[in-house]
Amino acid sequence: AGGGESHVEDFAFSFEGPFGSYDQMQLQRGLKIYTEVCAACHGMEFVRFGTLADEGGPHLPEDQVYAYAGNFEVWDPTLAGGDGDYRPATPADKFPGSSMSNAPDLSLMAKARAGFHGPYGLGINQIVKGMGGPEYIASLLHGYHEAPECAPEDFPGYYNTVFETGGFPNECKDEHGNHLYPGSWIAMPQPLLGEDVDFDDEHSNELEHEIEDISAFLMWAAEPKLNARKTAGLTGVIFLIVLSVLLYATNKRIWAPHK
Ligand code: HEM
Repeated sequence: AGGGESHVEDFAFSFEGPFGSYDQMQLQRGLKIYTEVCAACHGMEFVRFGTLADEGGPHLPEDQVYAYAGNFEVWDPTLAGGDGDYRPATPADKFPGSSMSNAPDLSLMAKARAGFHGPYGLGINQIVKGMGGPEYIASLLHGYHEAPECAPEDFPGYYNTVFETGGFPNECKDEHGNHLYPGSWIAMPQPLLGEDVDFDDEHSNELEHEIEDISAFLMWAAEPKLNARKTAGLTGVIFLIVLSVLLYATNKRIWAPHK
């Protein structure tokens, strides 16, 4: 959509390709960014705290997961003699939902958006590059730019060259209503500016690294079993190859006397 092409960049994430897997430390950094920045407005109501301990995920020690969950309160209808009351969350509970009504839940965001649509909208390059959900999120966070001059000062939102579905001022359209600039105006102010969080291992908190970390983390949230799924797939393929060789040899042996 739009006159100009908005551009989703291809990032080299560790979990790409048939042998790719999540980088545990990157997911832990992503969790920190989510907690300290994104969670101010967004929620992740489909993700259970306990999954933070999963192997193939952030793999936090159990005691840290208990401590993390304990920072949140959940409503428990069985407490106070059936009247219900708040209690500290446990690993069995889920992250809270979005606190801001127009900020979407981020649990499945990395699977809900596609970064690559081409060529000609056929989506064929998704076979090579993947769906591009995490790339979309990363490009969106990189996509804040100064608004074009045609836009009125008081136009609501923030100009973002990757966000396609927001408001667009009529002043920036041509006579046929085509957008003269890529992207549109998003209601979310630029959430990451670089050096927003400090990591315990003193890993770089430059903007591009923070953006890769949070995008990888949101991919894990949406697809937590990716590592296990890839291992199972690979085991299946190896099994089928071995089975084919055995069947071929068996076939040869059975028919050998009749040749
Ligand atoms: C929308 C990510 C922080 C408010 C979104 C979307 C994503 C996202 C992926 C969906 C865009 C789409 O629909 O295609 C993040 C990340 C954050 C973050 C990764 C932390 C690094 C925040 C914060 C606020 C906020 C701190 C509040 C100040 C919103 C709102 C929308 C939104 C209001 C809806 C925008 C619209 O539809 O115009 N965010 N966000 N976000 N976010 Fe955030």
